[in-house]
Amino acid sequence: MPQYQEKTIVTRVEQLSCENVRITLKAPEIASCCKPGQFVMIRTSVGKDPLLRRPFSIHQADASGHIQIYFKIVGRGTEILAHVRVNEEISVFGPLGRGFTIDENLPTCIIGGGLGIAPLLFLAKEICRRKKKNCGPDLIILGGRTLDEVEPLVNDFREVGIRTLATTDDGSYGEKGFVTDVLKSVELAPNTQVYACGPEPMMAAINDFCLAEGLRCQVSVESVMACGMGACLGCNRPVGDGKYVHVCMDGPVFEAKELKWNL
Ligand SMILES: Cc1cc2nc3c(=O)[nH]c(=O)nc-3n(C[C@H](O)[C@H](O)[C@H](O)COP(=O)(O)OP(=O)(O)OC[C@H]3O[C@@H](n4cnc5c(N)ncnc54)[C@H](O)[C@@H]3O)c2cc1C
Ligand code: FES
Repeated sequence: MPQYQEKTIVTRVEQLSCENVRITLKAPEIASCCKPGQFVMIRTSVGKDPLLRRPFSIHQADASGHIQIYFKIVGRGTEILAHVRVNEEISVFGPLGRGFTIDENLPTCIIGGGLGIAPLLFLAKEICRRKKKNCGPDLIILGGRTLDEVEPLVNDFREVGIRTLATTDDGSYGEKGFVTDVLKSVELAPNTQVYACGPEPMMAAINDFCLAEGLRCQVSVESVMACGMGACLGCNRPVGDGKYVHVCMDGPVFEAKELKWNL
């Protein structure tokens, strides 16, 4: 699979809430070959602080050669990235990792929590494109702690054409409660393919639910990553039987039942 170290150009910066930012980059090489669920490693500074690239899911990619990332400001790298300006150059390496496996013949339920919503817009669009807009039975459930984490992205998902439900822990937007509460309350077809990305306890609960209901479930997991390409061994994750996977190379998308949960 091709990978590029591309000098991308910032074409748009959207401050979607006080902590959440979306950046659009002109990245024709990466956009031409990336798949939903893959990620990029971004050099956030031209200097040595921070020295290492930071991993971000590909939030969207389009045929005009643009990719987007959507992120929360949590430290030095994301703080710098949040202040980039249009026309600035950013070094981006990717696409990396293994993305979601899509079977357009199956009904789909996509579940995102907090920043885990980031890779799911690209996935929803690709599913709808392959189903030729015939997404009637499909469902998206987006959740977060507060309105800020959910509301800015809901319209983008609804525009894809898939029924989209929202929850917040505090009830400030959508249903009050967790995405798993909604998941348990809706009726899914027995052959539904579930896709999930979000906090570990959320994905562990969704895995339990899918195992109990006999549903397929793919999850995108995070890990601290120094290299993103299998060289540093920093992203190991146990899968049971004393075995480990590299999240950067073997994932970040896995069959949920293959992973060890509640670490
Ligand atoms: C495959 C992958 C995809 C990702 N996609 C996104 C995305 O789409 N949007 C987004 O906002 N973030 C995403 N992340 C997390 C993102 O990489 C980190 O938030 C970012 O590296 C923080 O950099 P920083 O320099 O701002 O913070 P740092 O100063 O490096 O760290 C600040 C705090 O965040 C914690 N932290 C850093 N990286 C991670 C991590 N990977 N998991 C959990 N805690 C971490 C640190 O322990 C520290 O407490 C992704 C991570 C991975 C591995
Ligand atoms: S991040 Fe270095 S091996 Fe995965």
